[in-house]
Amino acid sequence: MKMGSSNNNPFKDQTNYSFTNKLFPYTLYALLPIAIIHLYLNPFSFSFSPTDLFPYTNRITISPSKEVLRKSIGLETSCDYSNGTWVQDNLGPLYNGTTCDTIKNGQNCMVYGRPDKDYLNWRWKPKNCKLPRFNPNSFLKLVKNKHIAFVGDSLARNQLESLLCMMGTISKPQLLYTDGEANKNRKWHIPSHNINVSIYWSPFLVKGIEKNTEKDFNTLYLDSVDEKWAKDLEFIDFLVLSVGHWYLHPAVYHNGNNVVLGCHYCQNYTEIGFYDVFGKALETTFRKIVERKGQNGNESSVFLTTFSPAHFEGEWDKFGACSKTQPYKEKVLEGMDAEMRKVGVEEVRKAKLRVEEFGNSNLRLEALDISGLALLRADGHPGPYMNPFPFANGVGERVQNDCVHWCLPGPIDTWNEILLDVLKRWGGEYKGKLT
Ligand SMILES: *[C@@H]1O[C@H](CO)[C@@H](O)[C@H](O)[C@H]1NC(C)=O
Ligand SMILES: *[C@@H]1O[C@H](CO)[C@@H](O)[C@H](O)[C@H]1NC(C)=O
Ligand SMILES: *[C@@H]1O[C@H](CO)[C@@H](O)[C@H](O)[C@H]1NC(C)=O
Ligand SMILES: *[C@@H]1O[C@H](CO)[C@@H](O)[C@H](O)[C@H]1NC(C)=O
Ligand SMILES: *[C@@H]1O[C@H](CO)[C@@H](O)[C@H](O)[C@H]1NC(C)=O
Repeated sequence: MKMGSSNNNPFKDQTNYSFTNKLFPYTLYALLPIAIIHLYLNPFSFSFSPTDLFPYTNRITISPSKEVLRKSIGLETSCDYSNGTWVQDNLGPLYNGTTCDTIKNGQNCMVYGRPDKDYLNWRWKPKNCKLPRFNPNSFLKLVKNKHIAFVGDSLARNQLESLLCMMGTISKPQLLYTDGEANKNRKWHIPSHNINVSIYWSPFLVKGIEKNTEKDFNTLYLDSVDEKWAKDLEFIDFLVLSVGHWYLHPAVYHNGNNVVLGCHYCQNYTEIGFYDVFGKALETTFRKIVERKGQNGNESSVFLTTFSPAHFEGEWDKFGACSKTQPYKEKVLEGMDAEMRKVGVEEVRKAKLRVEEFGNSNLRLEALDISGLALLRADGHPGPYMNPFPFANGVGERVQNDCVHWCLPGPIDTWNEILLDVLKRWGGEYKGKLT
């Protein structure tokens, strides 16, 4: 767990590395998560049976007229949220660590003593459309009587907790279920609007065995979706997928039960990196979603949150690893961040074509393309405030930093603002309006 001396520190001068050598970034990013592994949830196995959890009955079925409405909305249904700027906004966040009790400790920056507050006062302004402030009432109305599920890794949880806090300003979610182990799988109910919200831990989306004390690498089965969540697909109306960082770990990749395609940062197989592998896993995931939602299934919306960049500058356990207090004005996605985003966007595009081919007009897919706007928010991570009052006794020689996850409240609230806005557009709320 301890990093070596600063000479071969893989975080150092990250942006100066050349990405023209295809293999080099793979090995670089294999080392990165080794150092910060404890920032993610413990990669140990757990067991639960989701079939016990979702014995739903009453469903709302969709009348065909809604589809006609959608088609008539035309241009107003879309906005390129990815191109814009962060502008100062003194309204501040909707919630904080005092008003919301579902924030994971290490991301509750205010409560853990982060002294600066500027990072709370920014709003994302897309270049060509308006992104309204999150309106919890609109959101609750839109997902009334439905089940919204987040599936993925700790960044999925981060985004989910932001949403819970924002919904909670109107109506408090009640915890229905937790698997008791690091809160990996949880489910809430919001009685006022009969909404269920859940989170499934599935850091690859496809079937996989997470690294453990015996095996120091992940094992992925790229052609099988992870049934822990996928078996509940018919009972999920809104699905948000968020994965990526676990693909950086050393891993062996299988395609079919006994065929090894290659590996990433391991000894016995051919290095194949993780970009193509990530694409293949997303392809499998979307293929299953399209298949299982059927041709005339319930109305469903599926989102893929694109890769969320980390901001380590220097060693993760040295003071100042991510100590910015203002967003960047401009910064272009590059290297791994750009590749991972691209793979996600491309797989969503392919999945949309498949939905069309399949003829399911009740299934909508979209990429929540947050990579670029997230890259600008180096000021939004917990950094040393992943631990409470880290400098109470002065600055120690080692200071652990989380420059991956996001403070709550913080920039990740914007991901959900975009989510809501897309849903509103799909629902025809902007019909005839200039936005
Ligand atoms: C919410 O979950 C409960 C318990 O699993 C289930 O009985 C109910 O039908 C669900 N409601 C919705 C709207 O999904
Ligand atoms: C945003 O849009 C402007 C033109 O409207 C373009 O010049 C710029 O390259 C775009 N930026 C990104 C990140 O796409
Ligand atoms: C938290 O939010 C509440 C309610 O909006 C507000 O009264 C309080 O001042 C906030 N606390 C901080 C530390 O911002
Ligand atoms: C639609 O929802 C109902 C109730 O949750 C469920 O029983 C049914 O299987 C769903 N249909 C499809 C095609 O998923
Ligand atoms: C590589 O092979 C050795 C010897 O067979 C084995 O002990 C080791 O676990 C293998 N490593 C991987 C990553 O498969």
